[in-house]
Amino acid sequence: MIPPVSVRYDADIAIIVINHPPVNALSNTVRAGLLDAVEAADSSAEVTAIVISCAGRTFIAGADVTEFGKPRQPPALADLCNTVEACAKPVVAALHGTALGGGFEIALACHYRVAIDTASMGLPEVKLGLIPGAGGAARLARLAGARPALALTLKGDRLSASAALAQGIVDRVVGEDLLSSAIAFAREIIADGRGPRPTRAIDTHLAGDRSDLAAFDSHAQTLLARYHGQDAPAQCAASVRRALTMDIDSAIAADREAFAALSQGDQSRALRHVFFSERLAGKSDHAAPADLPSRVAILGAGTMGGGIAMAFAAAGYPVNLIDVSAQATEAGMVRIRANYANSVSRGSLREEEAQLRLARISPHGAREAAHDAQLVIEAVFEDMDLKREVFRDLERICAADTILATNTSALDVDQMAGFLQDPSRFVGMHFFSPANVMKLCEIVPNQATSEGTIATAMAMARAIGKVPVIAGNCDGFIGNRMVAKRSAQAERLLQEGALPGDVDAAIRDFGFPMGPLQTNDMSGLDVGYAIRKRRGTHFPIADRVAESGRLGQKTGAGYYRYANGSRQPVDDPVVAEIIEDVSSQLGIARRQIDRAEMIERMIFPLINEGARILEEGLARRPSDIDVVWIYGYGFPRWRGGPLFHADLMGLPYIVERLEAFAWQTGDASLEPAQLLTHLAATGSTFAQWQEARILSGHAI
Ligand code: NAI
Repeated sequence: MIPPVSVRYDADIAIIVINHPPVNALSNTVRAGLLDAVEAADSSAEVTAIVISCAGRTFIAGADVTEFGKPRQPPALADLCNTVEACAKPVVAALHGTALGGGFEIALACHYRVAIDTASMGLPEVKLGLIPGAGGAARLARLAGARPALALTLKGDRLSASAALAQGIVDRVVGEDLLSSAIAFAREIIADGRGPRPTRAIDTHLAGDRSDLAAFDSHAQTLLARYHGQDAPAQCAASVRRALTMDIDSAIAADREAFAALSQGDQSRALRHVFFSERLAGKSDHAAPADLPSRVAILGAGTMGGGIAMAFAAAGYPVNLIDVSAQATEAGMVRIRANYANSVSRGSLREEEAQLRLARISPHGAREAAHDAQLVIEAVFEDMDLKREVFRDLERICAADTILATNTSALDVDQMAGFLQDPSRFVGMHFFSPANVMKLCEIVPNQATSEGTIATAMAMARAIGKVPVIAGNCDGFIGNRMVAKRSAQAERLLQEGALPGDVDAAIRDFGFPMGPLQTNDMSGLDVGYAIRKRRGTHFPIADRVAESGRLGQKTGAGYYRYANGSRQPVDDPVVAEIIEDVSSQLGIARRQIDRAEMIERMIFPLINEGARILEEGLARRPSDIDVVWIYGYGFPRWRGGPLFHADLMGLPYIVERLEAFAWQTGDASLEPAQLLTHLAATGSTFAQWQEARILSGHAI
């Protein structure tokens, strides 16, 4: 076996090489090996400088995820970093790939950093509800200043090599020959007498903020406003502040304590749950074929078709985009071009990249353009007769092994499969709007879909950066079936006494980026209205608002008013009047409803529906439902998804509240689901239920 850490020599330079595939994660063996190698090189009389580098595709890419939440064996990363920094000989880190988390902390503890130009680096701990626990913030602040350190730790984003050079975080960027460049750099350091440069000794960048802590605090508060309710971002700010106010050893000791506390906390557990759940959801039971489709066609160049085409183009796929006529497709292309232009003007996409992506989308006015596609995704109007005609035609046009997918959000996928001679290659791929942005893709097999088709659809979703989750064929699949329960309660809360601003504020307070009514205004109130009409359901307030011509943002008014094309919702007395009028017609005495009740009224019913979906076998596991909600509906990631949240709240409490709500509102659909009642009664949780099914060999 190749040891994870080895040392070789280039004359008087010791080159420590970490070789721990696939990503040189900081497992216990790597930490221990690195510590030994550094100590040996430091005490060797022949060695004048040390280079730390990695074999394979990347520098240390972070902690070993399998060690998460478990007690760590020594050496602790913080001690390892201190030892590296304390070397009496210059230590140079040679960075390639992605130097992340603990890997970047080691690089920051080295005396100098040389990076290849394609390298990137960062401290993404916050994304798992943690802070850098080994002095990362304190050292970054010394190299680049407290504010850049704050920005990097709070967002957890990656920094390119050139940006790191500009901020003084790396010392040299090279285009090729990283290792020989790092060795040459080490020789220069020795030759020009610069010698070791412990990061802790640099304090030129801290003076400004140290002399005006109040200004730093107010800057931090402004940034933290975005992270309402979240522990780790607040702790990142506290950690950077300690770099200003404490000596580095005390600051690191405090960081270690904060790290330990966070890693035991619910939020970090929730974020780790999401991390693992996403991987599990994306696994198919069968391996995807080695040769995945490379030619894709999208039918329908409307809202969804355009977005899906952009998602494929962003991942490098050529796409044929087809609508009913060249003119109709061109209308779609106009929206796509406007979308790219908008991204370029906002600075989120480079002009050249936008042009490349646009060039990958070929507009066509006839279905025959799908003839050589290996995957066709249909996104035409939501009309069963139209879909029948489209799929029959596609079966004629395309090769026998082309995968045919529908993006339908509410039609019966089994019924649609019945239109095809070969339903085994037919599957639902349900994207979410805007499809070029939202990461969720529900994969909906019909009764006859082959395992190969499912595996291919999942692999293709992953290939374009989406998070696939398998959903059973039912009205609304997983996500929309659950969200309908929240919408019903939002409507009822309005009838009982709340105003739109109250309902939305409660959901935002819980951690969603947007409330349900504001979301409806954004997607258009005619959409829900049409669905209710089709189903014969009636939401008195929602119907009245839509019938009065208020269709949301696009008409300048919905549940809110939108002045002059603005997206900023403003409370509207006209809507308050409609609401109060409906309440009085229904004979409901309006009351003050507190925020906690509103949150429970909207969140618990969707948890309940999730339990029903599990009972009916329409989701493979509770954690899949959490993934749907995180990536499709903006459920706060740090709460882990609805079912993880339910486990934390305690299932008996949720059962009790649902029973109370059912009684209070007379709405029998709020009665707790059997599975929920059963788990609560047996002192179990969704997580335990999932674990037991995995152990008993249930398909996972
Ligand atoms: P849309 O009305 O924006 O676009 C539909 C497009 O299909 C139009 O450009 C129309 O000209 C075109 N079309 C109609 N018949 C066609 C045919 N025979 N061949 C080729 N193109 C044809 O509709 P949208 O919103 O994009 O929805 C499309 C599908 O996606 C529907 O099944 C819908 O349920 C589903 N969906 C919609 C979501 C949304 O948020 N809008 C979300 C997820 C799925």
